[in-house]
Amino acid sequence: MRKLFFISMLFLISVSVSAKTKQPLYKDKNAPTEKRINDLLKRMTLEEKVLQTNQWTYGKNANANNIEASKKAVRPEIGSLIYRSISPIYRNEIMKKAMEESRLGIPILMGFDVIHGYRTVYPIPLAQACSWNRDLVSAACAVAAKESRLSGVDWTFSPMIDVARDARWGRVSEGYGEDTYANSEFCVASVKGYQGKNLSDQTSIAACLKHYVGYSLSEGGRDYHYSDVSPQTLWETFMPPYEAGVKAGVATLMSGFNDMSGIPASANPYTLTEILKKRWKHDGFVVSDWASVEQQINQGFAKDKKQATYNAFMAGVEMDMVDNNYLETLQQLVEEKKIPMKSIDEAVRRILRIKFRLGLFDQPYVMELPEKERYYKPQYMEVAAKMAEESYVLLKNKNNTLPLSKNFKQIALIGPMVHNKVDMMGSWEAQGVTDVVETIYQGFEKEYNGSAVLNYAKGCDFEGEDESGIEEAIKVAEKSDIIIACIGEKKDWSGENASRSTIALPAIQEKLIAALKKTGKPLVLVFSSGRPIELVRLEPNADAILAIWQPGIAGGTPLAGILSGRLNPSGKLAITFPLTTGQIPTYYNMRQSARPKQGKYQDISTEPLYWFGHGLSYTSYSYGKVTLSATKITKTEKLIAEVEVTNTGAMDGKEIALWYISDPVASITRPMKELKYFEKKELKAGEKTIFRFEIDPMRDLSFPDSDGKRRLEVGDFYLTIYGQKVKFELL
Ligand code: NOJ
Repeated sequence: MRKLFFISMLFLISVSVSAKTKQPLYKDKNAPTEKRINDLLKRMTLEEKVLQTNQWTYGKNANANNIEASKKAVRPEIGSLIYRSISPIYRNEIMKKAMEESRLGIPILMGFDVIHGYRTVYPIPLAQACSWNRDLVSAACAVAAKESRLSGVDWTFSPMIDVARDARWGRVSEGYGEDTYANSEFCVASVKGYQGKNLSDQTSIAACLKHYVGYSLSEGGRDYHYSDVSPQTLWETFMPPYEAGVKAGVATLMSGFNDMSGIPASANPYTLTEILKKRWKHDGFVVSDWASVEQQINQGFAKDKKQATYNAFMAGVEMDMVDNNYLETLQQLVEEKKIPMKSIDEAVRRILRIKFRLGLFDQPYVMELPEKERYYKPQYMEVAAKMAEESYVLLKNKNNTLPLSKNFKQIALIGPMVHNKVDMMGSWEAQGVTDVVETIYQGFEKEYNGSAVLNYAKGCDFEGEDESGIEEAIKVAEKSDIIIACIGEKKDWSGENASRSTIALPAIQEKLIAALKKTGKPLVLVFSSGRPIELVRLEPNADAILAIWQPGIAGGTPLAGILSGRLNPSGKLAITFPLTTGQIPTYYNMRQSARPKQGKYQDISTEPLYWFGHGLSYTSYSYGKVTLSATKITKTEKLIAEVEVTNTGAMDGKEIALWYISDPVASITRPMKELKYFEKKELKAGEKTIFRFEIDPMRDLSFPDSDGKRRLEVGDFYLTIYGQKVKFELL
C-alpha cells in the first residue's frame, strides 16, 4: 500500500514538473495552455478554486491612506478585482501580493468599465454607431485598450450590444442603436479593437459582451425591470450580436440583471450553457453583473444566497461580481455534493484560460510609465476627434442654413452646453478628466480665431424654472447674425439607472429656443444627448439641427469645423427619433400590421420625426440604377448587387450605403425590411464610386426560428437602397 502511494506521488510530481525548467508545469510559459491549466487545477484546493470565481472591487484612488488598508483586505487568491485606480504602481503592488503571498501565485484579473475611452474619452457607443465606421470604432477601442493596459486594467466590461428601441431606457447611450446587424458589426469591430491581434500583447485587453441577454427590453424603459422576450425575438433581435462577438473571439460575457420571461438572465441555463457554451462553443467565461446572482432573491427566483449561487453557477455564470455569493456558499454546495467538483473545475478552467491568454502568469506586472507617456497621445486625440466628427448627425438644414455664411461676423453661442465640459463626457467617463474636455465655445474660438465675434449667453440651465437668463440671451441673439443654440441632456440623464418617462428636454430649454426664434435670426440647434430626443416642439423653431450626442473630450473642434463648413457632416442615425415619447417603440424594422392603412395614432402623426439611417450632408450624392448579377439564384449561389454613386455637390464627403433586404412571405413573418450590409466611402466632389453588396443566401436571406435554427426559404425577395427596390428570386 505504502509502495503504491509512493509510486502515485512520483507520478504526480512527474506530470506537473516541467522537465526543462524544474518549475511547476503551469509556470512554464512554453507549455501548452490547457496543460498548464490541468496542472494548476490539480494543485488547487476547493477554497482556492472558489476564490477564483469571485470578483471584488478595489482601489478608488492611490491615496497613501487608502492603499494599505484596502490592500490588506484583498485576499491574494481572489479571482478578479474591479480595479479603480489609474496607477500601474498600485496595480503592481496588489499583483505582487497575489503572486507572492498566495500559495500558487495565480495572478488577479483586473477589470474596469472602459466603455468609451479610458482617459482619452471619445463619443458614447450610440454616437459611434452613427459614424457607420467600423475601422474607427476598432481604432477607438484600441486606444482605450492601450491606455487601460498601461494603467493596470486587463479587462473591460464592454461592448454593450443590447439592441435598444426604447429611448426612455437610459442605457440606449451605451449600445449601438436599434438594429441587430449594426450591433453585430460594431460588436465585432470593438472586440477586435480591444483584444488586438493577441490578448497577451501589452496593448490589448479582454473584452466582455453585455448584458447577456434581453436586458434592453425592460418594461417601460425602466432599468433593471422585467423583460418579456419571446423566443422568436430573442433569436431574431438579441442573440445575433452576441453570436457575432463570440465568433470574433471575445474573451468574456456578462450576464444581465433582467428577469427574462420568468428566468433571470444570470441564471438561465438555455442561454448561458445550452447556447453559449455548447452550441457556440465559447471557451472563455461569464461574469455576473453587479450582484445579479444575489438579486435573484429580489426577483423571486431564489429563496436565499445558497440557492441563488446554485442557480447562477449551474446555469453557467463562472464569476460572481461583487456580492460574495459564491464566496459564501459555493464551497458548501460542493461539500454537500449538490454541485459536482467537475463543474467547479470547468468554471475555474475557463477563468484561468483567460488569465493565461492575457499572459498574466508570465507577465503579471505592467510597465510603470508616467501618465504623460500613457495618455492623450496626438494619435489618440486624433481618433477621438475623428470619431466625434463622424458621429455628428445633421438632421435638418433648411435653405442650407449650414455651413455658416462667411459673411456672418457676429455669432451667438447660447445655451447651457456652450461652456459645458462635464456633460460632454457621457455617462461612462472611466478615468476621463473633465478639465481636459474641449468645450463648444473653445472649438469655435479655435475655428474662427478672431475672424468672427462670438457672443455668449447661457439663457437657462438644463432644467428648473428660472427664466431670468432668457432676456439676456435674446439681446445677444439680436446683435448677432446667427444663433447657435446649444442645449441638451446632462450626462447622468442617460446611462445605468437613468430612465426617463419622457425623452423631451425640460420645458425651460424649449422656452429658450422659442424665445430665440422670435428674434427672427436664423437658428441652428445643436443638442447633446445620450438618447434620441423628442424634438417635436423644437424642430419647427430651428433652421438647422445637429445631434452631437456626448462626444467626449475632443468634440469642440469638429463641431465648429462642421458648422463653419471646413468639415462635411457624414453621420447617419443608428436609432430612430420618435416624434413624441408616446410613439415608443418605433424602429425601422417593424413587421407589417394586419391593416397597414389603419392602426394609426389619432392624435399625432404615426411617422417618427427622423428615421433610422437619416442624416444630411453639405454635398449631394446621386445613385445610379441598382444592378443585380442575376434575378434568380439558388441557395448556394451568391448575388452581386452594385450601384454607382456620384458626389454631385461641390464638397468632398463620405457617403454611407445602407443595404436592406425584405422577405415578403415566409413561414415566420419577417420585418418589413432588415439592414444586411453597410459601407462608408469617401468621395471627392465630382467623384464616382461603386457600392457593392455580395448577398450570401444563408447569411442574408435566412432567418432564425424560435430556437435559433436558420430557415432559408425560396421565393421572392427585395433589395432596397435609398428608395430603389429591386426584386430577385431564391430558387
Ligand atoms: C453594473 C452595470 O450594469 C454593468 O454594465 C457594469 O459593467 C458593472 N456594473 C460593473 O461596473
